[in-house]
Amino acid sequence: MKIGILGGTGRMGRGLAASYARRGHAICLGSRSADQAGTVASGIEGEVRGGSLVDAARDSDLLVLAVPFGAAEETVRTLADVLADTIVVDITNPFGAITPGRIAAVEVHANAVPTARWVAAYKTTFWKTLDQPVNSAGVTRDVLVCCDDRQAGKTVMDLIASTGFHPVDCGSLENARVVDLMVPLMLELDERYHCECASGWNFLAAH
Ligand SMILES: NC(=O)c1ccc[n+]([C@@H]2O[C@H](COP(=O)([O-])OP(=O)(O)OC[C@H]3O[C@@H](n4cnc5c(N)ncnc54)[C@H](OP(=O)(O)O)[C@@H]3O)[C@@H](O)[C@H]2O)c1
Repeated sequence: MKIGILGGTGRMGRGLAASYARRGHAICLGSRSADQAGTVASGIEGEVRGGSLVDAARDSDLLVLAVPFGAAEETVRTLADVLADTIVVDITNPFGAITPGRIAAVEVHANAVPTARWVAAYKTTFWKTLDQPVNSAGVTRDVLVCCDDRQAGKTVMDLIASTGFHPVDCGSLENARVVDLMVPLMLELDERYHCECASGWNFLAAH
């Protein structure tokens, strides 16, 4: 697949790019500075190039939205024309910038660009763990996924599974309101239990 990453020079963007490139996908890191993205891309193994935000969005089969929440709505509004029918994986965490529990970050962005195919994922995945899908105790890490477009969700879950993580189908985009709220608690627990940004939420299925 051709995968674009908006905010591809960041911690999550770089980690996801490396992980996807290892599975043979062609990656474009999108940045406000194409030069900076090119420099970052040259440090990642595989078919990884850098470009502008438009470069990353155009011609991608799948796009990851990995800019800070505060910049995300404007970023996707600016790119609205090229996002139509594109699967957009929203990984942004709002951290209380919107009324907690009343609307999810992904719903804000889906309302802004309803023609894109929105999937929320990786909200509870720390950047440091992106190259450790199995933790030190041998437990495969879950990635929580919310979507209304089931076909888009399946594509994203298959991609997540291909990188060694366990995708958990959390249902509708509306359920991402709950996932957004799980993140600040995860940060608090991570600090209390001295996990150094290596913790996460796992669902124990009853089988
Ligand atoms: N850190 C985590 O463990 C983690 C886990 C799950 C989800 N998330 C979410 O993932 C997203 C990225 O987090 P991160 O930790 O990777 O952040 P980061 O390291 O700060 O990277 C964010 C990237 O976004 C771009 N950016 C910054 N301000 C921007 C703006 N005003 N407009 C457009 N692009 C801008 C920057 O790229 P350029 O300067 O090259 O344009 C930067 O490299 C956030 O929404 C965060 O909530 C983070």
